Amino acid sequence: MYDEQFRQQFHFSPKEKWMNDPNGLVYYKGEYHLFYQYHPNSSVWGPMHWGHAVSEDLMQWEELPIALYPDELGQIFSGSAVIDKENTSGLKSSDEEDVIVAIFTHHGEDNEKQSIAYSNDRGRTWTKYHGNPVIENPGMKDFRDPKVFWHEQTQKWIMSLACGDQIQFYGSRNLIDWTFLSTFGSEYGAHGGVWECPDLIQLEVEGEKEKKWVLIVSINPGGPNGGSVVQYFIGDFDGEVFTCDDEKETIKWADFGRDFYAAVTWSNVHEPVWIGWMSNWQYANQVPTDPFRSVMSIPRKLKIRRDNNEWKLVQTPIDLSLFYKDTILLNEDVTLLPLEPKQIELKELQVMVDAKVRENQSSSFTLTLKGEKEQLQIVFDCVKQEVRVDRTRSGDVSFSEYFASVDKMPLNELNDFILIVDKSSIELFVNQGSSVMTELFYPSEQNYTLEWNATDGEVHLSNVSIHHIESTWK
Ligand code: FRU
Repeated sequence: MYDEQFRQQFHFSPKEKWMNDPNGLVYYKGEYHLFYQYHPNSSVWGPMHWGHAVSEDLMQWEELPIALYPDELGQIFSGSAVIDKENTSGLKSSDEEDVIVAIFTHHGEDNEKQSIAYSNDRGRTWTKYHGNPVIENPGMKDFRDPKVFWHEQTQKWIMSLACGDQIQFYGSRNLIDWTFLSTFGSEYGAHGGVWECPDLIQLEVEGEKEKKWVLIVSINPGGPNGGSVVQYFIGDFDGEVFTCDDEKETIKWADFGRDFYAAVTWSNVHEPVWIGWMSNWQYANQVPTDPFRSVMSIPRKLKIRRDNNEWKLVQTPIDLSLFYKDTILLNEDVTLLPLEPKQIELKELQVMVDAKVRENQSSSFTLTLKGEKEQLQIVFDCVKQEVRVDRTRSGDVSFSEYFASVDKMPLNELNDFILIVDKSSIELFVNQGSSVMTELFYPSEQNYTLEWNATDGEVHLSNVSIHHIESTWK
């Protein structure tokens, strides 16, 4: 049971020390594995290891011993893991268990190359492949973060790799011998920073039989509100080449908040789900948490929605209902009259709010986590057609000049929202998950209310539910 100040209660963070990207996300025999960039000796970034945790439900995590340590080829940077069911790699050695193969970047002095390691005991112990690296550095400074999946149609493993500010695809029959396939990105998307942590997945289109391919790419810096952020591209993949359906100028952000990065999906699952690192490289090393530094987002289910003929990535939180504890409101209608704020006392900053907006005559309305002096405010602004998260007065903002901010997300209409608050983070999912913002804040007061306020007209909300959420730490 961890309950230090600022410690999220139902999001994964390591007991202590530094963590960044989620790595090696794979499901096997009832367990979701979460590996992560980890520095066991410090709470700032340093020589990278793969930390390890497992969960049966993506909510309650058990931290296991470190899986991969740096070696003579370098630090262990980000990567992925797959279940090699057919033993294509020949690395299987147990009759009972499939071999799990991790594919990661070895980061040596200015030299990044791809390597593999394998486990024949459900991820408990790992052996690095004797022939590492499996892909040598071709003369590129940034050449990392391999994400691998099995491509059924062409019967081969496909690796997406971040190379400078482009993505390269490689193919392999055995996870060991890799062939270069193609490059994507020079003409598409945002290029304000280096591209990292790609992921290529096929997702269902809501309400249609069709599926689309989505290429997920983190970029640092260059986010719409500053710093590191996740962008994505929608199109097709034929086993060799990714073709993007969007106009070249189109930029699609997965999450407009400042604190959702390096997100990738679990492999070997039926329902696509991903998790992101809830921080931003602008200030990740300075956030005032102790003895741990950094936390993962809530896992989110993924699909595609066709919205006015535009493809959108849609994210919705996994079901938290098993962890509801006190119910403050259950499916109620709430009417907000102009300038008559409604206040709901919160026992703790561990809460989920779910609401539909039935009718809105106000040019804006706000949702504020309000202490005596501190507040974090969300403004739904129908005139400017945007959502703003203002954390300038949200508590400790002094640790970095980049932290205090009012962050914006464009929004044409507002139909519904889900807000998840956990001690020092908020995750806001608007319009059935089609617009998302994730933000950290560091409140210091004891008592908070949730204040709802319409500025100049009535707002009619329906199906409003508010639940406190239990701690998932044992
Ligand atoms: C993304 C990243 C990756 C890299 C890792 C190093 O946050 O920079 O590109 O593999 O972190 O910790």
